[in-house]
Amino acid sequence: MELRLLNFRSYPEAAVRLLPGANLLVGPNGAGKTSLLEGLSTLALTRAPRGGVTTDLVAWGSQEMGVSATVQAGGEEGREMVLELRWRFQPPSRRWVRTLRVDGNPQPVARYLGRLRVVSFWPEDLLIVKAGPEPRRRMLDVVLCQLFPAYAISLSRLRRALEQRNSVLRAVRDGAAKDQELEPWTGPLVEAAAAIMEAREGYLEEATPLAAAAALRIGEPTPLSLVYKPGIDDPEGGSWAERMTRALDRSRAEEVARAQTVVGPHRDDFEICLGGRAARQFASQGQQRTAVLALKAAEVAQHLSHGGEAPVLLLDDVLSELDLSHRAGLVQELAGGMGVEQSLVTATEDHGLGEVVRLSQVLEVRRGRVAPRGGG
Ligand SMILES: Nc1ncnc2c1ncn2[C@@H]1O[C@H](COP(=O)(O)OP(=O)(O)OP(=O)(O)O)[C@@H](O)[C@H]1O
Ligand SMILES: [Mg+2]
Repeated sequence: MELRLLNFRSYPEAAVRLLPGANLLVGPNGAGKTSLLEGLSTLALTRAPRGGVTTDLVAWGSQEMGVSATVQAGGEEGREMVLELRWRFQPPSRRWVRTLRVDGNPQPVARYLGRLRVVSFWPEDLLIVKAGPEPRRRMLDVVLCQLFPAYAISLSRLRRALEQRNSVLRAVRDGAAKDQELEPWTGPLVEAAAAIMEAREGYLEEATPLAAAAALRIGEPTPLSLVYKPGIDDPEGGSWAERMTRALDRSRAEEVARAQTVVGPHRDDFEICLGGRAARQFASQGQQRTAVLALKAAEVAQHLSHGGEAPVLLLDDVLSELDLSHRAGLVQELAGGMGVEQSLVTATEDHGLGEVVRLSQVLEVRRGRVAPRGGG
């Protein structure tokens, strides 16, 4: 794969050849290693991969950012395909406009997503176990958007319905609108919410045995399980649309008082349990790390079992805190053991990794320049 960056973070321009297998990126702090991984995952996800505003990724002072890659469609045997993502600032409207292209042809997001897939491990991913629900929801969204592009459409419909509905709720609270004015937004909200909750529930159900098996392989004997906690409190059951509708009805007074839609997938969470107990409260540091890695392993397994492109695995800075045998074990588990064909691993030093794991290349990153070690 060839990855090209234009005005992306600290890279004015860069082109990097990534080989099949494990690519190790080494370089000092601030050299641009993480930025390179962010570039590839932004291209896959069409937005900032770690939350926050996508335009923060634009090199400071630029009015245009681009990431593109030539990838093999359908694995190594398939034909080549060029994916391209561009953000341009439009001075008249003072807005950033995104374009997605496949082989030069503009594509809507639903026809673009899933052609390049990534599973990433960022240093802050420990928060998936430790912190509040936001990083867990983001984790679900990242994997589900890539697996099912229609999910991305549901997410943006949910966002729009919530915005509109909340602004009507403010008006109702302030006496400037009537309850009935909520109705046009309730239908779209219920529809998007039901699609999202169904997908999240299904994903977690399938992911539980996969994550548990991965945890066991990494060396955690306590059984791991994932329990969906939908953002609606409804013991009566029925379809997600029915449950969402009832939850909205029941929460109307609270909604108006707070001028906010208080039930729905934007309040979803899931619990990560070890031996049936919440890992957030009871698991040790090492067990929490294992749980996150197991979740990532389950992501990879889901991509492979749902067909389509094998994901590229991005491991940012995960090696530094581990001893050599755990490092090798980790890279082998994530890169080799699970059927990942290509991975990018960053580190400030090579940690002697090449002696224990087969690397396809070591790329040296220095102040925005990337070159293969030993190359010209
Ligand atoms: N939008 C931006 N425009 C220009 N430069 C940026 C932008 N965002 C971040 N940078 C800079 O890019 C540089 C490279 O950051 P990056 O996170 O890729 O480094 P790194 O090699 O991963 O370092 P570390 O080993 O410390 O994690 C940093 O000096 C950072 O300040
Ligand atoms: Mg970094």
